[in-house]
Amino acid sequence: MVPSSATRPTVLIARRLLPAGLDQLAAECEIREGELDASTERLLELAPGVDAIVADPAVTVDERLLDVAGSQLKIVANFAVGHDNVDLEACRRRGIAVTNTPDVLTDATAELALALTLAAARLMSEAESDLRAGRWTGWDPAAYLGLELSGAVFAVVGLGRIGRRYAELVRALAGEILYVSRHEKEDAERELGTVRVTLDEALARADALSVHVPASPDTDHLIGRAELATMRPDAVIVNTSRGSVIDSIALAEALREGSIGAAGLDVYEREPQVPSELLGAPRCVLLPHIGSATARARNAMASLVADNVLAALRGAEPPNRVA
Ligand code: GLV
Repeated sequence: MVPSSATRPTVLIARRLLPAGLDQLAAECEIREGELDASTERLLELAPGVDAIVADPAVTVDERLLDVAGSQLKIVANFAVGHDNVDLEACRRRGIAVTNTPDVLTDATAELALALTLAAARLMSEAESDLRAGRWTGWDPAAYLGLELSGAVFAVVGLGRIGRRYAELVRALAGEILYVSRHEKEDAERELGTVRVTLDEALARADALSVHVPASPDTDHLIGRAELATMRPDAVIVNTSRGSVIDSIALAEALREGSIGAAGLDVYEREPQVPSELLGAPRCVLLPHIGSATARARNAMASLVADNVLAALRGAEPPNRVA
């Protein structure tokens, strides 16, 4: 048990935590909640004196917030597997633990990447928008001709947990599965028949390429104008990782020019802004960052957040520590 009554620790939920995690925390801690529209100023008002901060991809945890929170702060628990919104170095310097929510969202996110791959390949956004807008005038042999993925070359950029699950899911369709990774993944090669290639080769050969790398200075615009130009003109590109990995303006241009086949995106460079160039681009399925949005995944993520916070408040090692 964490200390009780007058000494109950305080947890700042920067935005919102589902009951699967909130109830556990509220049983042992005082809770301050920022709500979904919490501004930076609001968070700075709520932060002084808190023992734990629960953040999510829409919350920037930087030196300023950490300083305002104070030296009693023990943990920043991110309600996400990605943690690029948290200044890890600043937390390390202050001895503050940072945790994430791995594994429990792997299936949900990989499934969404598969859904985006199929939806983009079959031009589902345009077809559905036409139908809803009353533009469908009947079966047309030449309309909405998409890319058939049976026998296709799939490329997975980043073969971590989610990339690997995506590779498993597309196996029934794929003629070949290429992967790009800093490290050789012998298990995946043996079990899934994946073949490690350079990014250049993946870009040049893929019929469908799905990105599963974290945001970092190394992956910023990993796929930019020059890289997009080397892709097949009918290729499908999918991003469920972080928006910064693909240059969205260059992607919108490639879609308009027809130098790439289609795109399926769940993430953007400056969320919740979606560049008008992408909104106006053809053959593009755009989703509002819902990769882990299944009830099972989100409840499990919330529960992991609570486990991590409560462990740190008890002075134990939090189970999902990344810094
Ligand atoms: C969501 O984007 C996550 O990183 O979990």
